[in-house]
Amino acid sequence: MERLPLILLLASHLFVSGVFSTSIITIENKCSNTIWPVLFSWQSQVSTTGFTLKTGEARAIEAPSSWYGLISARTLCSNDSTGKFSCATGDCKSGEIECPGGYGWSPVTYIFFRIDDGGINSYVISLEFGYNLPVTVVPSSQTCLSSGCMVDLNKTCPNDLKIFTRGDLTACNSACRKSASQENCCTHYFKSKQTCKPTPYVENFDRACPFAYSYAYNDNNSTFTCTNTTNYVVTFCPSSIPNNTRFNLVGYYSN
Ligand SMILES: *[C@@H]1O[C@H](CO)[C@@H](O)[C@H](O)[C@H]1NC(C)=O
Ligand SMILES: *[C@@H]1O[C@H](CO)[C@@H](O)[C@H](O)[C@H]1NC(C)=O
Ligand SMILES: *[C@@H]1O[C@H](CO)[C@@H](O)[C@H](O)[C@H]1NC(C)=O
Ligand SMILES: *[C@@H]1O[C@H](CO)[C@@H](O)[C@H](O)[C@H]1NC(C)=O
Ligand SMILES: *[C@@H]1O[C@H](CO)[C@@H](O)[C@H](O)[C@H]1NC(C)=O
Ligand SMILES: *[C@@H]1O[C@H](CO)[C@@H](O)[C@H](O)[C@H]1NC(C)=O
Repeated sequence: MERLPLILLLASHLFVSGVFSTSIITIENKCSNTIWPVLFSWQSQVSTTGFTLKTGEARAIEAPSSWYGLISARTLCSNDSTGKFSCATGDCKSGEIECPGGYGWSPVTYIFFRIDDGGINSYVISLEFGYNLPVTVVPSSQTCLSSGCMVDLNKTCPNDLKIFTRGDLTACNSACRKSASQENCCTHYFKSKQTCKPTPYVENFDRACPFAYSYAYNDNNSTFTCTNTTNYVVTFCPSSIPNNTRFNLVGYYSN
């Protein structure tokens, strides 16, 4: 990326941005198998709560102003003999492709978005409940930062947290999800940076994905903010992780 003077980028950004505060979030499947994205909303709604996305397909979702929600994806889904839909990872327990109702917090990689929260968008890639798919988030504006997380599960996931489906390693559970002790989940006595030490799960994922959120008390800031007119491309199973992270934009990025 060319390092244009910031003022020029901001000027061109404002010029094209107009007054729209809706963001288009395009979800792309570059995995070698079909995935079933899940969209959970806390505030305002998007047009779907879950759908099928075949390999190579993409779907654009219009996220209205003040949308505040999560995106994850299910893998290895099928209908049983009674027609009930379920997935090996990321299942939303609805029994169907759509995921109305609550969010199950199963072990998945998820992205938390806040769209136009007073003129600001933000996103966080979170591994706090686990990891099932590699993902990147690429904002449309060049003044905003991309992020991503991709790991070799076999190497990064501690053995006792590995989740297998028919013999294949398909996800990693977080220590807190696997065993919800106060110590693993940083609650009660352990609710402070001094008392809550990172678990091997947190340490491994932090090393592999330093810009993802895995633990309440790590020093890395995994929240990426941008102006409310930014669109995003969320790619599951990207071929690589973008290199324009905080480190090489230090002193340049400002928002
Ligand atoms: C499951 O059943 C639904 C509804 O009939 C259908 O749309 C979907 O394609 C089926 N899914 C799979 C993975 O077979
Ligand atoms: C953000 O959205 C509001 C409308 O909700 C709009 O008035 C404002 O101009 C937008 N801000 C930017 C920086 O585009
Ligand atoms: C996973 O790692 C173990 C050793 O740590 C190795 O024996 C095994 O072959 C690996 N499996 C895959 C699929 O890479
Ligand atoms: C963020 O995490 C990486 C990898 O664990 C580490 O090298 C880096 O120092 C951390 N940054 C901060 C600000 O703590
Ligand atoms: C970290 O994220 C918070 C929450 O969005 C934000 O207010 C803060 O400015 C960020 N800090 C840095 C150093 O990026
Ligand atoms: C990422 O960017 C840094 C600094 O610009 C560069 O040194 C490094 O080689 C790049 N890494 C990759 C994988 O492209």
